[in-house]
Amino acid sequence: MTALAGTVTPEWLSLREPADHAARSRDLVQEVTAGLSNGDLVVHDLGCGTGSMTRWLAPQLPGPQRWVLHDQDDGLLARAVAHTAPNDGEGNAVQIVTRAGDVTALRADDVAGADLVTTSALLDLLTAREVDAIAAACMTGGCDVLFTLTVTGEVSLAPVHQLDEAFRLAFNAHQRRTHHGRQLLGPDAVGYTAEAFMRLGARVAVRSSPWRLGPDHVGLVVEWLTGWVAAACEQRPEFANLARGYLRDRLADVAAGRLQVTVAHADLFATARPAPSNRRHGADV
Ligand SMILES: C[S@@+](CC[C@H](N)C(=O)[O-])C[C@H]1O[C@@H](n2cnc3c(N)ncnc32)[C@H](O)[C@@H]1O
Repeated sequence: MTALAGTVTPEWLSLREPADHAARSRDLVQEVTAGLSNGDLVVHDLGCGTGSMTRWLAPQLPGPQRWVLHDQDDGLLARAVAHTAPNDGEGNAVQIVTRAGDVTALRADDVAGADLVTTSALLDLLTAREVDAIAAACMTGGCDVLFTLTVTGEVSLAPVHQLDEAFRLAFNAHQRRTHHGRQLLGPDAVGYTAEAFMRLGARVAVRSSPWRLGPDHVGLVVEWLTGWVAAACEQRPEFANLARGYLRDRLADVAAGRLQVTVAHADLFATARPAPSNRRHGADV
């Protein structure tokens, strides 16, 4: 099962982790490091899953580091702790602690004094009001933020199939659906979040961070494609018959080693600090 059908499994997170590591913007890590204090770093990762963000970012930051991993799924948190703690940029293992709970209830006190709050593949699952609350908590708590790998809704597949666009539109509508009374931001999440931080007076930078998948990513492409089509059909049940033929064609493309997929994401950095004088000022969205 993929994250696309609403349940996040450790198998799905493990499958996507190498592509996620390759996709996240290194440019924005420079923004993060430019603002770090000299003392021990404290980073909160919201919706941490099994800890992919820590494994990617910790080695790029100086030590010592304390990571506070938040998730509502106890099983994923247990796996995050079971992983060998990654090393910081000086080669020493980072400290990891966990907090089980709903990150949409985050308050400034929860992150006050932290250097950085991160997310990865979380924002598109939230509502506008939830993003507003998280942004306010981070800014009031005095933290910079690095929110990565938010889907933006653009997908391109090569070679082209006449049904690609129909499934893309249905999938995006599914991402924006109202789920248990919550209207999800889906592909609108990055733009909305950038505006939320700017309303709070933050400087914001956004960079694209696409997955570029091909014959070296067969397992991930098959799982992503299957979940993408299933979500589209959940949104448009009348697509069920079309979907069988579409998936058959696309899985044949994968088996033949000819399918290339680009799935667009964006990473967002926000800070209350002014831009360094050698950089341009204002929102960089
Ligand atoms: C797509 S996964 C990404 C996991 C991890 N950040 C990564 O990049 O591998 C989304 C994660 O957010 C968690 N999550 C979603 N909504 C949440 C909420 N309201 N409170 C806490 N965790 C949440 C899920 O349990 C899941 O671990």
